[in-house]
Amino acid sequence: MKLIEWVKQAKTKISTLDAELIAMKTLGFSDRVGIIMHSDEEYDMSEADKMLEKRAVGIPLAYIMGEKEFFGRVFNVNQNVLIPRPETEQMIYSVLGIVDAEKMENPSIVDVGTGSGCIPITLKLELFKDGILSDIKGVDVSLPALEVARENAEKLRVNIEFFESDLLEKIDTLPDIITANLPYVDLDWDWTSPELKYEPALALYADDGGLKLIKKLIDEASDKKNDDRSRFMVLEADNSQLDDIVAYATSRGFMLISKDEFILAFKY
Ligand SMILES: C[S@@+](CC[C@H](N)C(=O)[O-])C[C@H]1O[C@@H](n2cnc3c(N)ncnc32)[C@H](O)[C@@H]1O
Repeated sequence: MKLIEWVKQAKTKISTLDAELIAMKTLGFSDRVGIIMHSDEEYDMSEADKMLEKRAVGIPLAYIMGEKEFFGRVFNVNQNVLIPRPETEQMIYSVLGIVDAEKMENPSIVDVGTGSGCIPITLKLELFKDGILSDIKGVDVSLPALEVARENAEKLRVNIEFFESDLLEKIDTLPDIITANLPYVDLDWDWTSPELKYEPALALYADDGGLKLIKKLIDEASDKKNDDRSRFMVLEADNSQLDDIVAYATSRGFMLISKDEFILAFKY
């Protein structure tokens, strides 16, 4: 089939962008120019057709492609991990800002609920770019998610220890910084995207208006602290939840140091 014809009929079922991305991926083009240059050529589009059918029933493109870009790097994903979201990139800026402001030389960081490992892997690489060596770990309760995180660390050539832990259960020594994009979706929210049903429920939903795990993490960090050294926690949540989290964390002795869309940073 001529490429131009395939794109034309694909656009009747899915968005133009997704159709072009599927064509690029299956034909090995690195950008859209490839599609324009070769639009009149004949190709076997059977692989592209399979992807098109999956996308047409609503499966997220990242799962179909097996990858998603985060902070300029491509991470492997499958249906055992949350698809990294652009809003989580702000968490990276927040942590880099803390390391810089506190002049940390060899920061220790634990990412709780690491999923694909996009947060700790990005932090390790971005800190390294700034000449900072870091000691970073990633934990999750999902063993299949940890497999994906390890795969990504290998692919992006970083040395990060990933292991199973229910929140901080297996963390004996508190790190300088805890990062956590934990599940925060309330099952009763009726405004979430229908595509969420393809992502692992374990990565999305939490009780108590979505705040159960976040509050528990705050409690655990606060209970484990047994010295006067300042530490930091950077959390992601929905904008509608930020004030409640700040109130709860403050009641546990945390001090808010920054608040952006979706991202809160505390000192404790
Ligand atoms: C919202 S996803 C975030 C994944 C990744 N950090 C990201 O930002 O793309 C939440 C992750 O928390 C994990 N999780 C859920 N409950 C947990 C718990 N009690 N302790 C540790 N991880 C947990 C899930 O398996 C999932 O991988």
